[in-house]
Amino acid sequence: RAKRAEENMATFTADKASWEGKSVVSVSQFSTEGLGLLYAVAGKMKEMVADKSDDATLSRNPPLRGRVLGTLFYETSTRTACSFQAAVARLGGTFVSVDPASSSIKKGESLEDTVMSLLSYCDAVALRHPAKGAARAAVGVARRPVLNAGDGVGEHPTQALLDLYTIAAELGGEAGLSGLRGKVVALIGDLKHGRTVHSLAKLLARFGCVLRYVSPASLQMPRYIQDEVESAGESVQTEVEDIGVVLEEADVLYVTRVQKERFASREEFDRVNGSYKITPEVLSKVKPSSVLMHPLPRVGEIVEDCDLDPRAAYFKQMENGMYVRMALLALVFGKA
Ligand code: CP
Repeated sequence: RAKRAEENMATFTADKASWEGKSVVSVSQFSTEGLGLLYAVAGKMKEMVADKSDDATLSRNPPLRGRVLGTLFYETSTRTACSFQAAVARLGGTFVSVDPASSSIKKGESLEDTVMSLLSYCDAVALRHPAKGAARAAVGVARRPVLNAGDGVGEHPTQALLDLYTIAAELGGEAGLSGLRGKVVALIGDLKHGRTVHSLAKLLARFGCVLRYVSPASLQMPRYIQDEVESAGESVQTEVEDIGVVLEEADVLYVTRVQKERFASREEFDRVNGSYKITPEVLSKVKPSSVLMHPLPRVGEIVEDCDLDPRAAYFKQMENGMYVRMALLALVFGKA
């Protein structure tokens, strides 16, 4: 299984052939050139979705016609599941969705057998699972692409891909990704359990961003992620508890939810819940050029009064998720 997992994964490069038929487990698979290709295709996807003319490419010649994506979500999701489903539908394909509560998962069927079943009917599977390492385990039995849509406290690679796309679009200017060097990105909240920040920190490290980890002491960024960031050799990273320290210097405030479902007890959760709350008053201390992001769902970390602030990018961020996932599907299916 380990051998098959290695074979099914790839390093994604600027060569489209490196993507075809391969699985996505971690952001570590994406070379800088590969990210450039993905984002160029995502930009085209955005243009094509906006084109509502009679001879629009997506209606005339949908690239994924006849393809079927399985969506297998053992944990709840709104954005990731729906954007994968919308992505394949907009490209002319369709999707089959498994509900753990009403499928044979309820009878005790294993993850591996469930993935094998779904891949008998579908051309690829997007998988979310509460266990870290679940995506890699699924790739070890799969003969077709498995796309990690979040594995417990492990990684959420497609979220980090759309986050980086959004940061580059908002801050990088003409230079895109290479315009991110020296930008200060504050990752705020539950950095221990937050898989989105685990993946994103690893990506940002490649582009020389200054990373500020803002969390309560018990929810700090795991050491193994900090080690990976350090080994990328391009980024400065520091930990602080007081959000006030980063407000004036931050180019990006990336706020996350305290992940109630990952705590052993309600008491432990209550001790740290509500540690950070972005309000208009907090935003008044932040640079006018900064970007406020959140992977969503939010449960009070950014109050709704911030939504009309021009720095609030979280709704754009979630829309970008569909374009980036369209690009990923097209590349993995060899149809970009
Ligand atoms: N950002 C994100 O993963 O959202 P969902 O849990 O709604 O998919």
